[in-house]
Amino acid sequence: MRIAVIGGDGTGPEVVAEGLKVLQVVAERVGLEYQTKHFDVSGDRYLSAGGDPERPSIPVIRDEEIAELRSFDAIYLGAVGHPKVAPGILEKGLLLRLRFELDQYVNLRPVKLYPGVWTPLRDKGPEDIDFVVVRETTEGLYTGMGGFQYKGTPQEVATQIMCNTRHGVERVIRYAFELCRRRGAKKRLTLVAKTNVLTYAHDLWWRTFNEVGEEYGDIERDYNHVDACCMWFVKNPEYYDTIVVCNMFGDIITDLGAMIQGGMGVAAGGNINPAGVSMFEPIGGSAPKYTGQNVINPIAAIAALAMLLRETGNNRGDAKLIEAGQRVEQAIMAVTPKMKSMAAGKMGYSTTEVGDLVAQAVAEAD
Ligand code: IPM
Ligand code: MN
Repeated sequence: MRIAVIGGDGTGPEVVAEGLKVLQVVAERVGLEYQTKHFDVSGDRYLSAGGDPERPSIPVIRDEEIAELRSFDAIYLGAVGHPKVAPGILEKGLLLRLRFELDQYVNLRPVKLYPGVWTPLRDKGPEDIDFVVVRETTEGLYTGMGGFQYKGTPQEVATQIMCNTRHGVERVIRYAFELCRRRGAKKRLTLVAKTNVLTYAHDLWWRTFNEVGEEYGDIERDYNHVDACCMWFVKNPEYYDTIVVCNMFGDIITDLGAMIQGGMGVAAGGNINPAGVSMFEPIGGSAPKYTGQNVINPIAAIAALAMLLRETGNNRGDAKLIEAGQRVEQAIMAVTPKMKSMAAGKMGYSTTEVGDLVAQAVAEAD
């Protein structure tokens, strides 16, 4: 198992170090051999290499680096974001570029409330909040199609095209049906869309969902408009099992999901190409104000590592990797009840102590 590690900016390297600490212990437990290689890709590097902080002037990640990443089994990312670099440059230059070039068409975001973690939803507990969002990430409003006409004049026109292909929609829907079956929970797949307004784009989603769904007779097919879905996330999160959603709506509902599972300290995501190289990351940013203080919560990064192991295992049918991922997640669930809070500086432990606790729980588990 060869893992490319991009610590990135701010607290990214700190939380990734805790994930790697846990990896070492779990690898020993299950007898997994692995290598890691660190890649220096960050906003810091962009600036020190002479990148313009206002507009993209040099690549955030170089072509040779992307070529090299293709030879790894997975990528483990901390955070890339820099207060001095204008919004959009690093996001487009790294995260979006990798999603497109490595064809990571699934963004997998489990919304799972770990034991002892505070949720803003009153009267809801870990038994109520445990579902997973499958967000499409290579199409929709993110392709950059569109443009300006008459720019800067009172007649200016700006278009942003929502691009949906049958191929792109079908593959992510199929992935979601498979995942829903594998979870073996409620066996309910909810398509979240806006068929009442997006009568072309989401008509394609609706038809594809139903056609593919015919092959999955054991899975209940369910549908929510995206606005109603936001209501249900708050009111009845226990209803959900697996959700499949387009790129833009998925971006929005997964932030809501992250909040109800306890926030940025715990939420992890995977950018997945089931037949290629996938990248796993804590969802929170680089948190510049907490950098170097040993106070940031590493649970999200450790959860991202658990996903990296489990999903790489699932994509390859490798039982050892799946077991390693499950062991790390179990260890996280043994540690969260001991923490005072999931917020930076309020955990009752330092970053490295939380990492030690999870590593210890992995080592001591049956
Ligand atoms: C996410 C992020 C990205 C997105 C940004 C940073 C481009 O919000 O991964 O959800 O919109 O996809
Ligand atoms: Mn987002």
